[in-house]
Amino acid sequence: MLISIEDQLEEVFRKTTYELKRGALDRKHPFRFLSMATSDSEGIGLRYVVLREVDENLDLYIYTDQRSAKVGQIRANPAVSLLFYHPRKNVQIRVDGRAELHHNDELAARHWQKVGEFGRKSYGSKHAPGATINHPTEAYQWPEEIDSTHFTVIKLVPVKLETLQLGRSEHLRAQFDRTPEGWKKVWIAP
Ligand SMILES: Cc1cc2nc3c(=O)[nH]c(=O)nc-3n(C[C@H](O)[C@H](O)[C@H](O)COP(=O)(O)O)c2cc1C
Repeated sequence: MLISIEDQLEEVFRKTTYELKRGALDRKHPFRFLSMATSDSEGIGLRYVVLREVDENLDLYIYTDQRSAKVGQIRANPAVSLLFYHPRKNVQIRVDGRAELHHNDELAARHWQKVGEFGRKSYGSKHAPGATINHPTEAYQWPEEIDSTHFTVIKLVPVKLETLQLGRSEHLRAQFDRTPEGWKKVWIAP
């Protein structure tokens, strides 16, 4: 259990955001991998990604290749949903927000410094992600020196968080909406 019925909404919010931050800091935390949903006029895209950072404003950071389909979808529609599940604590967290793309800018450069030599291969293949190839080995081609040409940071600025705590039959569900005055916190029916 992450939250209990005795918790005040303030405490539920604190535990929710703490757990999200742990996901970015602890490699073994189940929130390290999350599902990210994007959409455009063609439809919906859903995929797992790695949570790289959660900052003090609760902005979430994900790395990708700017040639990937998700980047095109975010350009078309910056509204993005993230989904986390913690199997041991039986808790689901949903984050809705607006995604910003950072490519070849100061923020992207700061994150690129944190990507190790091996990790850089994920953002520097000769073939664009999703390109048709004749054989799997065709994808294993990288330039001599991998630079940050395709490296992109997705910064997700959350506007709504939702925590669902599963119990045996009595579940708990809380919603947090970002307002100009701060986070509005309410219980909702599970
Ligand atoms: C556990 C896991 C973690 C992943 N992490 C990332 C990631 O951090 N960034 C990324 O671009 N793709 C990541 N992928 C690959 C994506 O799920 C996806 O296949 C790829 O990015 C292409 O997605 P798109 O065509 O929707 O853009 C990950 C896949 C798995 C299974």
